[in-house]
Amino acid sequence: MKIAVMPGDGIGPEVTREAVQVLEALSLPGLTLFDADVGGMAYKRHGHPLPQETLTMARESDAVLFGAVGDPDCDGLARHLRPEQAILGLRKELELFANLRPAKVFPGLEHLSPLSPEKAAQIDMMFVRELNGDVYFGDKGTRIGADGSQEGWDMMSYSEKEVTRIAHVAFRTARAGDDKNRVTSVDKANVLETSQVWRDTVIKAAAPHPDIALDHMYVDNAAMQIITNPGAFGVILTGNLFGDILSDLASAAVGSIGLLASASMGERQSAHGTFGLYEPIHGSAPDIAGQGKANPMATILSAAMMLRHSFGLEAEAARIEAAVAGALADGIHGGDLGGTHGTQAIGEAVRERL
Ligand code: NAD
Ligand code: IPM
Ligand code: MN
Repeated sequence: MKIAVMPGDGIGPEVTREAVQVLEALSLPGLTLFDADVGGMAYKRHGHPLPQETLTMARESDAVLFGAVGDPDCDGLARHLRPEQAILGLRKELELFANLRPAKVFPGLEHLSPLSPEKAAQIDMMFVRELNGDVYFGDKGTRIGADGSQEGWDMMSYSEKEVTRIAHVAFRTARAGDDKNRVTSVDKANVLETSQVWRDTVIKAAAPHPDIALDHMYVDNAAMQIITNPGAFGVILTGNLFGDILSDLASAAVGSIGLLASASMGERQSAHGTFGLYEPIHGSAPDIAGQGKANPMATILSAAMMLRHSFGLEAEAARIEAAVAGALADGIHGGDLGGTHGTQAIGEAVRERL
């Protein structure tokens, strides 16, 4: 079981260190970890945010554990050299087109949510976010108009092929998951052609999945209903941009962005499951980096997803999740949850409860 560990920038190394120690505490036989450079730190060392050696290491691994990338010092660089290109490049190069982002309130932890306890208890949704297309990867540019002012553009598109494969992931996820058997496809088909193709294709892709209830919702309405009616959602199938935004929104409903994990997968198989890249949904948090304040739980839960999806270690994944839930229940809260526990204290508290 080869894991490429890519801590990255800002709080990335701080939270990744704790997740690695959780994995080490499980003493899994045959587990080997290799570090690789990504993001702004890789740019500073190698002149590129996603060095060739890093990509090669990812390809030769069974899974990638990723921290976060992003560095305000790099915001002035040409776009292809910015830290964020590391994660975009890994997702694209490794064909990790399906991003699973569970947003769930653990039983007994409703008080962490800003929603009423009744509403919070209903939050148990899984985002299935397309990750290789949309406005992220279309033609883009900036030009200077005749009047000397700037104009920027980013082309949004989805092909049937791209939508079909992510839709099947969503239907399969709904079937494998909880008892809801429900997929809500989120788009903006009232305005965008991209979304009309998306919606038509999702409807076609649903044909072999008659056991799954499918409905469609516009993204603005979805943003509202995730807060007002969270129990209506099981699997939320959506595109790259809408999924990015809605999953941060859902994290706030759960309690903090420091709690939400993710798995990015494609079709490639690993030693004992599917090859995947695992990362918290948050970024490098430059505002708190280097202060030992970041909540590592999202990254620790991402490591649990890795054990489940890439290594078939369901029991070990559940042990990690129970330890995180136990620590939260015992009041081990980072600053993001209004508590005083630091990154290392949270990591230790989780390890004690494994
Ligand atoms: P962010 O997610 O880094 O931070 C948003 C807010 O949440 C900040 O106030 C931060 O302090 C807080 N926060 C985030 N994670 C936390 C944690 N684990 N514990 C406690 N608080 C936490 O988003 P941003 O500030 O918009 O972006 C910062 C940089 O990160 C940018 O360069 C952005 O491009 C990058 N980014 C990278 C990824 C990634 O690597 N996958 C994801 C999102 C943003
Ligand atoms: C995320 C991030 C990335 C995205 C950025 C850093 C490219 O926001 O993983 O959620 O937009 O996908
Ligand atoms: Mn994001």
